[in-house]
Amino acid sequence: MERIHITDVAPRDGLQNQHVPVSTAAKLELIRLLAVAGVQSLEVTSFVSPRAVPQMADAGNLLVQLNATLPRLRSSVLVPNLKGLGRAHAAGAQEIAVVLSATETMNRKNINMGLAEATEVSAQTLAEAQRLGMRTRAYVAVAFDCPFEGETPLAEVVRLATRLHEEGAGEIVIADTIGSASPGKVKERLAAMRTIVPVGQLAVHFHDTRGMGIANAWAALEAGVRRFDTSVGGIGGCPFAPGAAGNVATEDLVLMAERSGFVTGISLDGLLGAVDFAEAQLQRPLGGRAIAWMRRQREKEPSSRRFAEV
Ligand code: COA
Ligand code: ZN
Repeated sequence: MERIHITDVAPRDGLQNQHVPVSTAAKLELIRLLAVAGVQSLEVTSFVSPRAVPQMADAGNLLVQLNATLPRLRSSVLVPNLKGLGRAHAAGAQEIAVVLSATETMNRKNINMGLAEATEVSAQTLAEAQRLGMRTRAYVAVAFDCPFEGETPLAEVVRLATRLHEEGAGEIVIADTIGSASPGKVKERLAAMRTIVPVGQLAVHFHDTRGMGIANAWAALEAGVRRFDTSVGGIGGCPFAPGAAGNVATEDLVLMAERSGFVTGISLDGLLGAVDFAEAQLQRPLGGRAIAWMRRQREKEPSSRRFAEV
């Protein structure tokens, strides 16, 4: 059976936009629950301006505590520039992600730089991270549509992904930041990506604004991609991309993949516990499309074998 690799981005992408303050201890507990559920890779925080994203102001403290308690977990952190990289390195980060949006306006709204400057800053940050011995990921954000400029030209996505790949990014993450992609578009864009980046180094990051996230994930699987960003409970949304909902829910992707013959190494039961915890913290109902069914299974079968058939 083929394995797929999931990076849960809830602690960063999910929590960055929440209105309820979430304590460092609660974030660490969510990460611990996900690790116990079998999630091997997480994007745990971002080293961005605390004025821009107050929810991530505790990034350094969180990472130091995380590395002390779960040293074997593969955790990545988002950094927008060299200052963020320096802060991340000082806190013990071993993997970083840079974020380059594929349009001029989205870069300005997100990181206050134009596309040309953002490209150079991403390249410098990737180079310095590699010099420091870190693993690297590079997002191409708004890779389908931009909330400000409309459909993103595929040629532009290809150009930027090529540059980031040439700069040595270990993984190129094609991100549907506003959740406007459809399976046909996913197939088309990933076919183009595969001609420039080895498919093993391609990841996808879908938001579920229009309910097409899981269909898009299936299209990506069919296109050969095996690396997925998801968010437990579907938590999330970008504060700088109007209208963006949360990511595809981790539990939905795990259910779909395992039912289709792939191995994720992640327990649905464990994810259910993480969704319960996140709901209590954020004080609102969470969960992807499968959560109601998962909870009914739990009521019917209290033992932890309840998802054994999955
Ligand atoms: N971490 C913390 N502080 C940072 C920083 C970082 N990575 N980068 C810059 N700063 C600080 C500067 O030191 C400066 O502080 P000061 O005013 O106390 O001297 C201040 O922020 C302004 O610096 P400047 O370089 O002019 O940045 P900016 O105001 O143009 O903002 C970013 C640029 C990238 C820092 C900011 O837009 C940002 O953090 N964006 C992140 C957006 C995000 O997280 N989006 C969601 C994920 S895709
Ligand atoms: Zn996102």
